[in-house]
Amino acid sequence: MRIAVIGSGYVGLVSAACFAEIGHDVISVDNDANKISALERGEVPIHERFLAELLQRHHGFRLRFSTSVAHAVKASDAIFITVGTPQSATGEADLSFVEAVAQEIASAICTRKVVIEKSTVPVRTCEFLRKSLLFNGAKSELFSVASNPEFLREGTAVTDFLYPDRIVIGADDEFSTSMLRQIYAPLASGSYYSCADTIPFSGRAFTKARAIITNAKSAELIKHASNAFLAMKISFINAVANISESVGADITEVCEGIGADSRIGPRFLNAGIGYGGSCFPKDVQAFQAVANQCGYDFALLTEVMRINTDQQKRFLAKIRSALWTLRGKKLAVLGLAFKGDTDDIRESPAIAVIQALLKEGAHVRAYDPAAIARTRHMHPQTAIEYADDAYDAATGCDALLILTEWNEFAKLDLGRIRSLLKYPVVIDGRNLYENNQMTEAGLIYYSIGRSVGVPAKMLPIVNNTNLDPQLHIPDSTREAAPVSY
Ligand SMILES: NC(=O)c1ccc[n+]([C@@H]2O[C@H](COP(=O)([O-])OP(=O)(O)OC[C@H]3O[C@@H](n4cnc5c(N)ncnc54)[C@H](O)[C@@H]3O)[C@@H](O)[C@H]2O)c1
Repeated sequence: MRIAVIGSGYVGLVSAACFAEIGHDVISVDNDANKISALERGEVPIHERFLAELLQRHHGFRLRFSTSVAHAVKASDAIFITVGTPQSATGEADLSFVEAVAQEIASAICTRKVVIEKSTVPVRTCEFLRKSLLFNGAKSELFSVASNPEFLREGTAVTDFLYPDRIVIGADDEFSTSMLRQIYAPLASGSYYSCADTIPFSGRAFTKARAIITNAKSAELIKHASNAFLAMKISFINAVANISESVGADITEVCEGIGADSRIGPRFLNAGIGYGGSCFPKDVQAFQAVANQCGYDFALLTEVMRINTDQQKRFLAKIRSALWTLRGKKLAVLGLAFKGDTDDIRESPAIAVIQALLKEGAHVRAYDPAAIARTRHMHPQTAIEYADDAYDAATGCDALLILTEWNEFAKLDLGRIRSLLKYPVVIDGRNLYENNQMTEAGLIYYSIGRSVGVPAKMLPIVNNTNLDPQLHIPDSTREAAPVSY
């Protein structure tokens, strides 16, 4: 199949590379000429596992790049729209990029095409897309529209695309359904998985992908409702973590107990500093706006958002509780990206926490394996000092903060960290360690939803630092350890 993918960002570029990987001829389009030139030169604009390999494998053969929507539309049978749908000032999805692309597509359609929205959009967008194509000159007999929402996660985008939990095809006519079935046939029939040189998958045994065929509106709703549900799961467990912390329970064990119920499942039950990224914050808002437009007060979503914002405030209170005043304190920060394995810092809780710390007069020395360049570029005015690695960041600092769950941050040489820090304090917003790992290295360990881990000799010190009235950490929650003065 000849495919055009309009928008070469996280979703568009990964989709284009994966469509080429499963045998289609693809043109990946972006109106950012610099991005397309970089791709033409063989550069990979985002940090995503296996993406470089796929681009190298298919660029110039089954995958081409262009800045021209018209050229790509004329040369394709199926056109995927993967441009951004950011949050507008009122909380709704801003669909102006989608509409701009629709206008360009309309004027280039001269043979039968299917135009597919892959961007995350509110329910009924397919209707507007069809109308926009008609208003802008496309003949009704020459196009169909369909919805095929994307569920990939940054960090595992390529394997998520090639080994999906499900492929949702939302179409209101036979032509669109049949085109999308053909496009995904290598995954849905399983033929891709028996090819030589497939991208490896370390998850469950995989023989074929499940396709869910539905109408366009249901497909649109599936995507918004999925993201809202996942955000709700995160906020729910963060709320439970706050109770756990107050009563001296251990949220890690609580999650294990909750997640063992097959109706709930263990995934996405990680307490932390809240969700971020380019999807959940805007999609929960946009879904609530959809509900409002339908006359339904989806107050649950308001609470999901409130808990998420509150979680960052609680984390800042925890830092104050550990360090007393922040003005002039030097803090090592591990993590800038909104989650591990990506360089994406959009709506990153780590960046929000750093900005709050800087506002309070702290000095921040940060390290991230992939997101430093992007942070420098997007926040040139933010006075962050960047370090070469975690140990360089920790050197001479008053405390170490873990804000992103990169794997390498879970494997630190804690003895070395202890020797480099001025004060033996680690405040972990991602629960990457057990208390005893830290206390055995001589570090005081603050995490989320668990007691403070205190090396035996330091218990009195911690008693005196628990000064913040907003953050009640009763003595009984501290790790039982023999007191030795
Ligand atoms: N990032 C994710 O993890 C993810 C996952 C699933 C769904 N989504 C959804 O997919 C959509 C895209 O997200 P993203 O993260 O890839 O965004 P992005 O900002 O990384 O990429 C969008 C790209 O579209 C390009 N673009 C904008 N207008 C254009 C035009 N008129 N012509 C050609 N190119 C144009 C931009 O230059 C940019 O490169 C959003 O709706 C998002 O909610 C994102």
